[in-house]
Amino acid sequence: MKSIVVFHHFLFLLLLSHLISVSSWKKEEFRNCNQTPFCKRARSRKPQHCKLIATDVTIDDGDLTAKLITPHEFQDENSTNPLILSLSVYQNGILRMKIDEDPSHNPPKKRFQVPDVILPEFESKKLWLQRYTKDGDSFIVYLFDGYEAVVTSDPLEVFVREQSSGKRVLSFNSHGLFDLEQLRVKKEGDEWEERFRSHTDSRPFGPQSISFDVSFHGADFVYGIPEHATSLALKPTNGPGVEQSEPYRLFNLDVFEYLHESPFGLYGSIPFMLSHGKSHGTSGFFWLNAAEMQIDVLGSGWDAESSILLPSDEKRIDTLWMSEAGIVDAFFFIGPKPKDVVKQYASVTGTSAMPQLFATGYHQCRWNYRDEEDVKNVDSKFDEHDIPYDVLWLDIEHADGKRYFTWDRVLFPNPEGMQKDLASRGRRMVTIVDPHIKRDDNYHIHKEASKNGYYVKDASGKDYDGWCWPGSSSYIDMVNPEIRSWWADKFAYTEYVGSTPSLYIWNDMNEPSVFNGPEVTMPRDALHYGNIEHRELHNAYGYYFHMATSEGLLKREGGTDRPFVLSRAFFPGTQRYGTVWTGDNIAEWEHLRVSVPMILTLGLTGITFSGADVGGFFGNPDTELLVRWYQVAAYLPFFRGHAHHDTKRREPWLFGERNTELMRDAIRIRYTFLPYFYTLFREANVTGIPVARPLWMEFPHDEATFNNDEAFMVGNGLLVQGVYTQRAKDVTVYLPKDHTWYDLKSGKAYKGGKTQKMEVTDADIPVFQRSGTIIPRKDRFRRSTVQMENDPYTLVIAVDSSGAAEGELYIDDGKSYEFKQGAYIHRRFIFSNGKLTSVNLAPSSSHATRFLSDCTIERIILLGYSSAKPKSARIEPSNHAADIELGPLQIRSGVRSSALTIRKPNVGVSDDWTIQLL
Ligand code: NOJ
Repeated sequence: MKSIVVFHHFLFLLLLSHLISVSSWKKEEFRNCNQTPFCKRARSRKPQHCKLIATDVTIDDGDLTAKLITPHEFQDENSTNPLILSLSVYQNGILRMKIDEDPSHNPPKKRFQVPDVILPEFESKKLWLQRYTKDGDSFIVYLFDGYEAVVTSDPLEVFVREQSSGKRVLSFNSHGLFDLEQLRVKKEGDEWEERFRSHTDSRPFGPQSISFDVSFHGADFVYGIPEHATSLALKPTNGPGVEQSEPYRLFNLDVFEYLHESPFGLYGSIPFMLSHGKSHGTSGFFWLNAAEMQIDVLGSGWDAESSILLPSDEKRIDTLWMSEAGIVDAFFFIGPKPKDVVKQYASVTGTSAMPQLFATGYHQCRWNYRDEEDVKNVDSKFDEHDIPYDVLWLDIEHADGKRYFTWDRVLFPNPEGMQKDLASRGRRMVTIVDPHIKRDDNYHIHKEASKNGYYVKDASGKDYDGWCWPGSSSYIDMVNPEIRSWWADKFAYTEYVGSTPSLYIWNDMNEPSVFNGPEVTMPRDALHYGNIEHRELHNAYGYYFHMATSEGLLKREGGTDRPFVLSRAFFPGTQRYGTVWTGDNIAEWEHLRVSVPMILTLGLTGITFSGADVGGFFGNPDTELLVRWYQVAAYLPFFRGHAHHDTKRREPWLFGERNTELMRDAIRIRYTFLPYFYTLFREANVTGIPVARPLWMEFPHDEATFNNDEAFMVGNGLLVQGVYTQRAKDVTVYLPKDHTWYDLKSGKAYKGGKTQKMEVTDADIPVFQRSGTIIPRKDRFRRSTVQMENDPYTLVIAVDSSGAAEGELYIDDGKSYEFKQGAYIHRRFIFSNGKLTSVNLAPSSSHATRFLSDCTIERIILLGYSSAKPKSARIEPSNHAADIELGPLQIRSGVRSSALTIRKPNVGVSDDWTIQLL
């Protein structure tokens, strides 16, 4: 009995230390590469370590297959069995390579291959290979127009190259670092256990790691592999002249107070890297593997002592990939343009779900809004201060003792009434639902889960019991589809008592976070459905939880309402289920700065709907930082203010009139651009191209953009430059070449191709519209997106040097899936020779599924139009005239600017029309 008390006391202290530990990142809680045997082994291997050769090359079932064998003289007791390699080619420049053990040699266990990530329809894009050509010891297959894939047998190497020039694009094992530790039966004397701090990992299957080198040819920089709080272009981690650091770690962890400049792995993992350079353009490499991964980016010259000869006349970036378990299931994307690579990746893992319109507005969160009174108060203050917002969030304290799906009825006696009240003003609510379930026999979720055997098991086969917010907790095993379906049913209105149709969900702590677990997570030898060890799928655990929750929101409305679920953990494919945010950042300038590359990286790797806690989660931002944060975040895809419970309240009206005005302006600007954002979300939904883009994605030939992560593009039209320092009087902005850039506020034109020093005031950050674009806005200020529905549009045309511009507008009902049946409006606006034309891009759809809108265009603003000043405009087919005059460029407090404006053309947003300037 005494020991139980002591144990609980210990757990309590542990929990307390977790709660109050806001001092700094606890480095020693986490393993580094040296303390991680598979990583240490892989990092110490020398080039040409791999002795495998490819034999028995053949075409089988449309794939090129080979056996990888170790020649006799190099064999040791652990590498006697051949491995199986297969290469498959898919449409649009994708090569898939698998390497696994040969099942005919009966390895002790089937290695884990990640299911449920690759889109089912991807298989139908396979090009069935018929033949290979042989050239010396190379076997060559067709890959894509102008590209081929090559396997050389001795030494083993796999690469993709341009057919005509023979130039390589991507190569695997060019440095002979491939190693796959084959599973074997434990022998006397084998010490497989691993210890870290007070934890022991029983490792019943022993070493099973995989490592290999991948080279990106023609690359100036590599990007991707989130989640790390670091620069967009990844710095080398190893090599001569490089300050040696840890490899980039991919292991989903709950990291308290993470550093703003570190290769340390955070809450989510996407093992997808992109490269970009002057000579080839862009390429990508994706390893579908859910175990812990570590990736080194090697500085040039790291291989100087080996005798490897790769073409030396071009830039190249070599990388080393290491994973604790699983198989090689890798995808090579040939690009060659940045948007090609993201599309290729999206064709494998999916594009992002189309969000509801409300979710693209501003979200107000805090740990915690205390009670119904507090909620009412905050909501009414937004109206009092004329600040639009769409969603109010409740954190863990709203539930009864952290039992999710319940309410603390003292604080929230009437949750339905509260939600309905918000909904009456067009607003939604989000509540938190975490994956740790309180082990309380009176809690219905726990009762059912334990009775049905729905929990993850520990190594001994008992329900795994860890410590999280509610105390002793177990974790639902979401890997099992039956359990996911049970979980999804919990979101039915009858099950989630107190929920209403305007309630959406937030999934947190789903790495999973376990306060008393190794590295604050679940032990690697815990067991999932199908006897899968946690180590094999750790990085996908949160993904499955997100998936099941999203399924739940879909089910509760019979599949008609688009789910909104925010998740902290993520994995490839997460974009199909919802939104992510960058977790517990800090109220510091450097955290504001790093939020931009973090969000851009997520967009490059498929997850475009992401954001960072505005203001910083930990600590109290000074007012200037808070204002600057709003000004930047207003242009990033997911826009939510959030803060830790120990921080001072920081709703936008608490800092004096001037600052309220500044934050109001920032939020209002976001709302004016919502038609543009929504159109971009649709583009992301169709193609995989992100909403917020690194400059090099839009200007791939402009070298000055490759390493820039202080500025970003929203679509192809807006360039946003953040202000990341205190009391800044000016900032340096690089405007890409071959374009003119129009200051959003003044309309002033700047020639691109130069780095400019620009004055800034507290009023806003530099934002520019690119010449050649047309951007749709809604300029009337409302409480939320709901009230904006019927508002008229403004079009802002910024002409290029030939007087032309183009842009698009996508509209649907903002909530259902009817757009999938063609119920949407999609227009292209084309301006040339003084004439604006609206062209239909939507397929003609039947009456039943048509989406109609009575919205009109109330104003058209022209920037850079230099022909003799037009006086009026003729509108066809209605054959009426509209006045042209000087009007405001933006409707904002204290801003006086004027631009050529076509007033009240009043054309229908869904109609075909032309407007000719006269
Ligand atoms: C950790 C999350 O990152 C944070 O946003 C949240 O407020 C707390 N958990 C409490 O739920």
